[in-house]
Amino acid sequence: MNYFHYINDELYAEEVPIRKIASQVGTPFYVYSYQTLQRHFTAFDSAFGEKFDHLICFAVKANSNLAILNLLGRLGAGADIVSGGELFRALKVGILPEKIVYAGVGKTCREMEYALQSGILMFNVESWPELELLNRVAGEMNKKASIALRVNPDISADTHPYITTGLRQEKFGIDIHRALEEYKRIQSLEHVKIVGAHVHIGSQITKVTPFIDSLQKVATLIQKLREEKIQINYLDIGGGLGITYRNEEPPSPKEFVEAISSTFKGLEVTIISEPGRVIVGNAGALISKVLYVKRKDEKNFLIVDAGMNDLMRPSLYKAYHEILPVRQENRSTMVADIVGPICESGDFLARGRELPEVFSGELIATMSAGAYGFSMSSNYNSRPRVPEVLVKKDQFRVIRQRETYDDLIHTEMVPDW
Ligand code: LLP
Repeated sequence: MNYFHYINDELYAEEVPIRKIASQVGTPFYVYSYQTLQRHFTAFDSAFGEKFDHLICFAVKANSNLAILNLLGRLGAGADIVSGGELFRALKVGILPEKIVYAGVGKTCREMEYALQSGILMFNVESWPELELLNRVAGEMNKKASIALRVNPDISADTHPYITTGLRQEKFGIDIHRALEEYKRIQSLEHVKIVGAHVHIGSQITKVTPFIDSLQKVATLIQKLREEKIQINYLDIGGGLGITYRNEEPPSPKEFVEAISSTFKGLEVTIISEPGRVIVGNAGALISKVLYVKRKDEKNFLIVDAGMNDLMRPSLYKAYHEILPVRQENRSTMVADIVGPICESGDFLARGRELPEVFSGELIATMSAGAYGFSMSSNYNSRPRVPEVLVKKDQFRVIRQRETYDDLIHTEMVPDW
């Protein structure tokens, strides 16, 4: 459920016509709906409700704009981060360090220092060498690092292979059958304190079974740890709940929590959840303008001013995003590839798509682009990154300006030789 809708055949974000934003900020741009973000976060948070002691740590990688982080932070969200840069952003908007968890297989020494200095809630540690480094860094700072081990439950998440993470052959986490031994070994590390267990099996998962299977394994581990007198206070269940891009029917947050909660009932842990996509995915769209309608022998192409550098998901994962015309009156339909200006054949937003016939100069909306849209965008082909706009009821604000040509080069220099 979101707040993008047609009024008199014209696409609106909440109470603002998309066309109006386009006339002020130009195209392409990302637009997000405040009320959708609010609704999604609240639905997720209240699914855990009073029943389960919990903390929702928004996965910053899904959308790291400060205005979005600020909005979620004010609703009570913490942050799931994977880099020093994400920590910087989360702290910048006032998310409390004690609500920040830090995952990732390649944390650097400097990033560890920064996170320890900031006093984050816990490191989700992915390997023994990482633990050793963390122990050393914390020791040098006279601190104790709170950690959870990210365990790899060897569960298939039934999603795109690039975004499944809970299988043994992936780089993520510590194999679950070794976890007990590793936890015991950690007790010898003077500057590391065990506080939790973490699991994250992948993204855009639309069934509950993989979550239940993996959480059952982790719950068993937590019980075994208790028998060994190793106390686990936090069970971090990761993110991964999928959304509807086309016709997927993922469980609602409430159904999701109901389904998984039997696995952690009675464990007496605080549940940490790290949703990203389910909060922001359907709260955003990428708006672009049709530059040319190109009819070739084989196919029709709508050449638009947004490319794979702006929204990488279709090119990278063959991801489906719905494409809507911003003006929708009675039109005949056409079948076309919707492509960008980038010099690669893999530069497309959609392929072989049937949609209402649109003409050069018209606007189209690529929907469900709020998660992993802007945050994965780049300057490829020396294209300035696009602005982001937040709509709240009848108002809108630019929350990130369009980059300029000078922005493209301001960190570069030519050596004098
Ligand atoms: N926690 C951890 C440790 C993660 O690695 C991720 C996502 C999340 C939470 C949030 O997952 P979500 O709730 O958003 O599914 N670029 C890909 C998705 C990559 C996900 C990476 N990890 C895409 O566009 O589909």
